[in-house]
Amino acid sequence: MEIFKKYKLLLPLLICLAITLVLGVILLLPMSEADPGEGRETDTQTESETEECPDMTLEFATDLSAYEDYMNPEAGSFLLLVNKTHPLASTYEPTDTVKVKDVRQNETRNLLLDRTAEMALEAMFIEMRAAGFKNVFVTSAHRSYEYQYRLFFETYLPQEMAANPFLSREEAIEKVLRYSAYPGTSEHQTGLCVDLMTHNMSDLDESFADEPVYAWLLENAWKFGFILRFPEDKTEITGYDFEPWHYRFVGRADAYAIASRGLCLEEYLADK
Ligand code: DAL
Ligand code: ZN
Repeated sequence: MEIFKKYKLLLPLLICLAITLVLGVILLLPMSEADPGEGRETDTQTESETEECPDMTLEFATDLSAYEDYMNPEAGSFLLLVNKTHPLASTYEPTDTVKVKDVRQNETRNLLLDRTAEMALEAMFIEMRAAGFKNVFVTSAHRSYEYQYRLFFETYLPQEMAANPFLSREEAIEKVLRYSAYPGTSEHQTGLCVDLMTHNMSDLDESFADEPVYAWLLENAWKFGFILRFPEDKTEITGYDFEPWHYRFVGRADAYAIASRGLCLEEYLADK
């Protein structure tokens, strides 16, 4: 009984101690949880500031492991800029080209592309077909200076002059320059880009933007290292009308940075 009396005196003290402990735990727990959260936010900001390709395993419907090195080459190694103010020499030719596989059935022309770009393109076609888009094909790839010369001066210019007889030759050239590159300034001379079409289309035109595969490409082309080169909202910068069909290989890391920031190649390179 004596012992019980002693503990009876200690009881209020113990209850106070217990309440303090419980309150302490309740108040301190959320603070200690907030710290890593804040840390994560900082990490996310750093990632988006540097626009690094997300460090995630991309989920493809097919096994594309044999194509990984082609789709994802060293960042910065495929950023050659060719445009109205950055021409190529008329003698420039890509050094290592291969035949494009995914061309129209019975295609008689020999379409060529840079080897890395072609392998990455093959991967994109495999995945595109797995997603249900089976009617797409490559209609143009590498074009030599001479080919571009003929296209510009022997196809498009006479077409414009015939359609607009009151235009001077210079005015007609200005019109053509909205959609076709002057010889020496076409990205097609690099062997790093392709024009895509579907069997629903009779001509290569803006109707490609209405094809369901266009939405798929907008979302997925970067995974294979491709960018939409002449977007609708960048015509002032690129100098060309919207070309929903023209895709340029730059490699996955740069394609991700460009697409996720909504830039065109000129803006991306100016910012680097
Ligand atoms: N149609 C693009 C601009 C070219 O001719 O290269
Ligand atoms: Zn093109």
